[in-house]
Amino acid sequence: MQEADFDETLDMRTGKIRIHTPEDFEGMRKAGRLAAECLDMLAPHVKPGVATAHLDDLAREFMLDNGAVPATVGYRGYRHASCISINHVICHGIPSDKALKEGDILNIDVTPLVDGWHGDTSRMYFAGEPKVKARRLVETTYECLMLGVAAVKPGATLRDIGFAIQRHAEAQGFSVVRDFCGHGVGRVFHDAPNVVHYGEYRDRITGVHRAPDTRLEPGMFFTIEPMINEGKPDVKLLKDGWTAVSRDKSLSAQFEHSVGVTETGVEIFTQSPKGLNKPPYA
Ligand code: MF3
Ligand code: CO
Ligand code: CO
Repeated sequence: MQEADFDETLDMRTGKIRIHTPEDFEGMRKAGRLAAECLDMLAPHVKPGVATAHLDDLAREFMLDNGAVPATVGYRGYRHASCISINHVICHGIPSDKALKEGDILNIDVTPLVDGWHGDTSRMYFAGEPKVKARRLVETTYECLMLGVAAVKPGATLRDIGFAIQRHAEAQGFSVVRDFCGHGVGRVFHDAPNVVHYGEYRDRITGVHRAPDTRLEPGMFFTIEPMINEGKPDVKLLKDGWTAVSRDKSLSAQFEHSVGVTETGVEIFTQSPKGLNKPPYA
């Protein structure tokens, strides 16, 4: 479904950020809306006793029934329609037969491909009633996402997004995961630029890391998807090659929107049509 002159690897290699047309905005609106509707559909199904593989089945069926395909299936060998990351899993949790437990917090991340466009979004869900600290982490992470989104406008920089997120997370006593970032999105699932969720941090060994001061321009599409940890930001990858957990096993939360830079600010492509933006959803 790609145009003939379209080289899907080019921009990640060159780091050049694509500028999209009004028709491209239409494409992302449709894909983003379906992605958000998929997450809406899942909300009443998330409860203790339910296996995450069941939620994944529901997500796959929803996409296929609505003329989309899950872009994650076959992506670098991944085989599922969603990533489901529970408690201390930061991201890329693999759906399984394991049942959710009372008080679990989980992220569900879906990316339907609709007419060649990727709608990439994720939200947190509660199984039953999580502890106060877990709820506060989830609430703060949602606020981090929306503060990042609010920083998007022509002339602002990628660093402004990262600073807005980091400032809020750290003010609440939480930490920003640095090993995974948002990304350009559109016809390509993971495109330039990298969208890091910090402004600046100092590593004891590798020194100071500063988010790039790349200027935002109308027509840029990317995701913002902060992962915020209750404890330290350090990540460990499990032997399955996908599941990323917090090294100190502390709780982790994430929300993700796909957005476009407009002439005056930002358009969120993956807003929930039902207003189910954050838990509790009941
Ligand atoms: N949807 C994820 C993201 O936000 C990517 C998942 S890739 C997979 O970028 F292969 F793990 F599914
Ligand atoms: Co995603
Ligand atoms: Co993403």
